[in-house]
Amino acid sequence: MFTKGLLTALAVQSCVAAVSKARDEHASCTKTTVAILGGGMAGVAAAQALHNSSIDDFVIIEYRDTLGGRVAHTDFGKDENGKPYTVELGANWVCGARIGLAGGPENPIWTFAKKWNLNNTYSNYSSILTYDENGFNDYASMLDEFEDMYDEASEQAGILLKENLQDQTARTGLALAGWRPKIDDMKAQAVEWWEWDWEDAYSPEESSFIFGAAGENLTFNQFSDANNYVWDQRGYNHLIKGEASTFLKKNDPRLQLNSIITNVTYTDSGVTIHKKDGSCVQAAYAVCTFSLGVLQNNAVSFSPKLPYWKRTAIEKFSMGTYTKIFLQFNETFWPRDTQYFLYADPTTRGYYPVWQSLSAPGFLPESNVIFVTVVSQEAYRIERQSDEETKAEVMKVLRDMYPEKDIPDPIAFMYPRWTTTPWAHGSYSNWPPSTTLEMHENLRANVNRLWFAGEATSAQYFGFLHGAWFEGQDAGEQIAKLLKDECKNVSDTSVDCGDRRYYDTLHGSSPLADYSVFDGWEVSSFYSSS
Ligand SMILES: Cc1cc2nc3c(=O)[nH]c(=O)nc-3n(C[C@H](O)[C@H](O)[C@H](O)COP(=O)(O)OP(=O)(O)OC[C@H]3O[C@@H](n4cnc5c(N)ncnc54)[C@H](O)[C@@H]3O)c2cc1C
Ligand SMILES: *[C@@H]1O[C@H](CO)[C@@H](O)[C@H](O)[C@H]1NC(C)=O
Ligand SMILES: *[C@@H]1O[C@H](CO)[C@@H](O)[C@H](O)[C@H]1NC(C)=O
Ligand SMILES: *[C@@H]1O[C@H](CO)[C@@H](O)[C@H](O)[C@H]1NC(C)=O
Ligand SMILES: *[C@@H]1O[C@H](CO)[C@@H](O)[C@H](O)[C@H]1NC(C)=O
Ligand SMILES: *[C@@H]1O[C@H](CO)[C@@H](O)[C@H](O)[C@H]1NC(C)=O
Ligand SMILES: *[C@@H]1O[C@H](CO)[C@@H](O)[C@H](O)[C@H]1NC(C)=O
Ligand SMILES: *[C@@H]1O[C@H](CO)[C@@H](O)[C@H](O)[C@H]1NC(C)=O
Repeated sequence: MFTKGLLTALAVQSCVAAVSKARDEHASCTKTTVAILGGGMAGVAAAQALHNSSIDDFVIIEYRDTLGGRVAHTDFGKDENGKPYTVELGANWVCGARIGLAGGPENPIWTFAKKWNLNNTYSNYSSILTYDENGFNDYASMLDEFEDMYDEASEQAGILLKENLQDQTARTGLALAGWRPKIDDMKAQAVEWWEWDWEDAYSPEESSFIFGAAGENLTFNQFSDANNYVWDQRGYNHLIKGEASTFLKKNDPRLQLNSIITNVTYTDSGVTIHKKDGSCVQAAYAVCTFSLGVLQNNAVSFSPKLPYWKRTAIEKFSMGTYTKIFLQFNETFWPRDTQYFLYADPTTRGYYPVWQSLSAPGFLPESNVIFVTVVSQEAYRIERQSDEETKAEVMKVLRDMYPEKDIPDPIAFMYPRWTTTPWAHGSYSNWPPSTTLEMHENLRANVNRLWFAGEATSAQYFGFLHGAWFEGQDAGEQIAKLLKDECKNVSDTSVDCGDRRYYDTLHGSSPLADYSVFDGWEVSSFYSSS
């Protein structure tokens, strides 16, 4: 609605109108048209979308010393030449990688993985052995049982979605389809953890039935059911840096790394971003890509305070924690040809349940690296304890799984603490039960000139890297249209342009038309046939 020239005039005017103290502050602010808060997948996609629309006056303001955000890796252990391995602390798979035949569109992350030649390998979830506290115990057939019942549950969720009916917990949906693990059947509990918690970072009780099943479909039915594990030694975020290099020069001043944002002031004419070092950036628009965890922890303050409807949405959605614990040994004492090992603890559900071997063929066969994943309460518990305490627990489990082996102590041991990481405060978001689409639209809506984008703002792909990409792209495109004055007819609701829809008052369900965001693949035929 504003031309570029007018924008600058307005920015100056709002500056002059402010109190003298603020004027002094603002006088020193760097000016830009669009400020992108955060340099993860969403931030880079937003910047690229602006660039694609010939808007090159933007800055990316990033806390860390690198792009990539939650696609983050570190050195771990060493190879036979003493060179460390690269392991991923955050995102690890291309979820919905197109291999073989798939009818739907291609996942953009898969397109990038090919473009940037990332080393990756198909995760074969049938390559699994099952264990309990007495060693190997074959209960793998329960995995098929779950999957059959899940398919039935998902069909039911499809009906609830299509008819805009009351959501349930995934627990309820699974039970109605016949999956009802006994509380003391720890093998069934381990199977359920592998099938549900491992993906959502929350239990079925804590997850939406409708949106959990819809999300599963939109990634794994629409793109493909393949998950490809990235083990590239440049790190998974090589593709994010690669995409950024298509529009940023080397040492581009528009990329502000090591820049901690503390305070964001927004109005209907612009946004001012204050950094910890005392400097500031003044922009016509801003895209906030902070994780839901950063927003929930008030790690950055907003002035004025975000409106009640926005704060409600921020507090309503869940930020999960998914923790990978890495171990390197001097030898591979576990089966070499198997990718996964599932452990059922006799007392605690989710206690070091899923083990993943990097020594398996197609990964890093000489590495002797294995890692185990925990989520949610178990992840919080180990974040509170020392490495030594956790190592002792992990080694006890491994020795129980392989009682016939004489297992040496690991030569390297490491795990990240995502919940207390100040630029993430968790791993990825989850959709809680009985939480409507209109609540989600409030999470996604802009507040004046402040826009929101990221994994969590994707109704279709929340939790996934491709969700962050689509959301960054959309915010960038929308802001470009506003800057180019292409959103003239705001009364035409079929034009997806201008301010995003939000609900000041929540109604408990959304108008059916809002559900068009789920269009695509088989889910869309559901709507068009109704
Ligand atoms: C352990 C783990 C496993 C995962 N596994 C997968 C997987 O296998 N497949 C998959 O598809 N997805 C996975 N994900 C999810 C995926 O990583 C995210 O969906 C995606 O990276 C989110 O991108 P984003 O741009 O929305 O947010 P982010 O990557 O969080 O980007 C936001 C940026 O904002 C910056 N920031 C935060 N606070 C400030 C501040 N105060 N000042 C300045 N900058 C700030 C951050 O440093 C960050 O770079 C996983 C995530 C984790 C953590
Ligand atoms: C920008 O354009 C390029 C080239 O067409 C395309 O590959 C890329 O996906 C676009 N980026 C976004 C964020 O839309
Ligand atoms: C996956 O593993 C199973 C069990 O080892 C094996 O039978 C199957 O051929 C593997 N599939 C692929 C695609 O490698
Ligand atoms: C998921 O896809 C299946 C298969 O197409 C369909 O039967 C089901 O209704 C879908 N569920 C949801 C929640 O979209
Ligand atoms: C990718 O895999 C090939 C084949 O194993 C290997 O030679 C190369 O070093 C790997 N590159 C990276 C960056 O991981
Ligand atoms: C944020 O900045 C505004 C404008 O400079 C100021 O009024 C407000 O007090 C600041 N808030 C915090 C928490 O620093
Ligand atoms: C690994 O270390 C253990 C304990 O020190 C030792 O017994 C074993 O022989 C070592 N294995 C190899 C392959 O060196
Ligand atoms: C704007 O959109 C509305 C609703 O679609 C339509 O009735 C009206 O004619 C449009 N106005 C213009 C100027 O295009």
